[in-house]
Amino acid sequence: MGKLVILDHPVVQNKISMLRNVNTCCKEFREIAGEVASILCYEATRDVPLITAEIETPICKATVNIVTEKFGVVLILRAGMGMTGGMLNFLPNAKVGHIGVYRDPNTLRPVEYFWKLPSDSQERTILLVDPMLATGGTASASITHIKDKGVKHIKFICLISCPEGVEKLQNDHPDVDIYTAAHDPMLNDHGYIVPGLGDAGDRMFGTK
Ligand code: URA
Repeated sequence: MGKLVILDHPVVQNKISMLRNVNTCCKEFREIAGEVASILCYEATRDVPLITAEIETPICKATVNIVTEKFGVVLILRAGMGMTGGMLNFLPNAKVGHIGVYRDPNTLRPVEYFWKLPSDSQERTILLVDPMLATGGTASASITHIKDKGVKHIKFICLISCPEGVEKLQNDHPDVDIYTAAHDPMLNDHGYIVPGLGDAGDRMFGTK
């Protein structure tokens, strides 16, 4: 079963509290979401293998550690956009993919409308980004699609998860680890995480 990694750092928790607050404006929301995304990215890449290489510093020859792994940051439109800048601050050489999936408001099931992944995705570790892991339907469908392109290593990164979404991902994709900054107790009847932070896209872009 995939790991569920919940960031328990007090400063991260404080940032999540600011995101939850209905009085946080969209400018602050975007900034904080980006900051938390960088930290989640740091945590999600902690186990990346290192190789050693011989280099020369201005002082002497040295054996140093190097990361050769290549990454792709794939965001689920539109709320994933608000986390991408933060992810790229930490992994500036990552290629970026976009997935357009929305939840049908009646069935809460994912409907796909756009896909564009890096052409060499199968050679990369893909970090799939969506702020809210709610029912897990969109995340699971997105991972299935990414795997269909031959990708072997995928990690899922969100700001807030809940038991329903985690259970769905762990059942459907036991090889995918989940990194979250908070794990909330439940979903409401409209598929929103409780207490959550509301509609992440609307909070980020000021559309409501
Ligand atoms: N999507 C959101 O933006 N918020 C939720 O709480 C659940 C899904």
